Amino acid sequence: MLQYAIKGGNPLVGEVEIGGAKNAALPILAASLMTDDTVYLDNLPDVRDINVLLAAMENIGVMAKHASRHRVTLNAGHINSFVIEDDNIKRIRASYYLIGALLGKYRHAEVALPGGCNIGSRAIDLHIKGFRALGAEVTIDHGLIKANAEKLVGNHIYMDSVSVGATMNIMMAAAMAEGKTTIENAAKEPHVVDLANFMNSMGANIKGAGTDVIRIKGVSKLHGTDYTIIPDQIEAGTFMFAAVATKGDVTVKNVIPKHLESITAKLLEMGCEIDEEDDCVRVVASKPLKHTQVKTLPYPGFPTDMQPQITVALALSEGTSIVTETIFENRFKYVDELTKMGASIKVEGTTAIIDGVSKYTGASITAPDLRAGAALVIAALAAEGFSTIDDINYIQRGYEDFHLKLQSLGGQIEMVENGVENQKFRLKTG
Ligand code: UD1
Repeated sequence: MLQYAIKGGNPLVGEVEIGGAKNAALPILAASLMTDDTVYLDNLPDVRDINVLLAAMENIGVMAKHASRHRVTLNAGHINSFVIEDDNIKRIRASYYLIGALLGKYRHAEVALPGGCNIGSRAIDLHIKGFRALGAEVTIDHGLIKANAEKLVGNHIYMDSVSVGATMNIMMAAAMAEGKTTIENAAKEPHVVDLANFMNSMGANIKGAGTDVIRIKGVSKLHGTDYTIIPDQIEAGTFMFAAVATKGDVTVKNVIPKHLESITAKLLEMGCEIDEEDDCVRVVASKPLKHTQVKTLPYPGFPTDMQPQITVALALSEGTSIVTETIFENRFKYVDELTKMGASIKVEGTTAIIDGVSKYTGASITAPDLRAGAALVIAALAAEGFSTIDDINYIQRGYEDFHLKLQSLGGQIEMVENGVENQKFRLKTG
């Protein structure tokens, strides 16, 4: 079992290059099978969720070739199956994007029910409602979501709540439908805009992405394209909070500062210095950190995917902070682990009441999911002494070379395979 061995206490200092956005790359990969032409994708992150989705696409006949680590050539001209149910794909949430993509182009899809992080109930009713509104028949049968349509016809679809996944899935299903589709109360996340830009570069007609109302005029065919995926706002934010918790000075490079506004706003409230340039943001945490209040909300609100990371930093800030999670009801599972490191946090329902402490101390802890796992690594880097983090496979789902990037900032962290290697790390760094 792979673990992270960490010796905390060093402020993280330096520059770190941010990769392509996982949550944009996943739907974009799926949408690339909606043309028979070749699609070139750049800035594709080399993380487990992406590689699982790519493998599932190859299993149904998509030809995928890496020109380099982050550039892939895809051709879906010879798809030989519409059924996707391998064991790996069941573990990732984004498998559901293959329904929108296959249904949109071929009018038929059978995809295993999605997995993903266990952070609360993760319904797919809004996706299904959207597919049905376009004329598809959707059933759940033996663990598969089956979607079929004679033809898809555009419709007016109102989303009962804001869903990133459902907005993008419906966008794909509607792109080649007859006539016009309007998605109302759509998600506005940067990755929704990125998917729309990508599909428009393939000849789709999607307007309004990034606002509440997305209007799609169906086209009969999509063509090949060469597209670069946007930088990952969550990876960037994670390194920004790593800088803060360790009282460091980190510049995240290759980012779109606008996408980080809700994060930089909170960092300023906490007393950090922020220096923004065109494509990088520097965070300096030289003063004592101040408490604040945070509520996770759909974009442009504070992202739920940054909630554990800011909590880790607030637990080291003066005074009492309040963090409210409004998107997923079960996203405070990591708090027990953080308590082992000395944090003082009380969770009541979907609210965490945090009494700042002056330091963490190292402990043996387990990553409960992707973002919380990354947050616990940050806590361990800030802590006094040694920590061991188990179940790092969660973290590898969404962060490329996480420990290497942290090492390059001066973090004492290594990926180890067993107790002996862990012991060696302790002797070396002790
Ligand atoms: C995506 C991201 C995830 C991020 C989340 C919110 C991917 C693979 N995952 O997840 O990292 O945390 O956006 O930014 O991109 N809901 C329903 N019915 C549905 C769909 C969603 O009730 O059909 C609810 C969910 O339970 C949740 C809320 O809507 O409470 C938001 O979910 P959604 O935006 O769909 O998140 P995901 O797309 O699953």
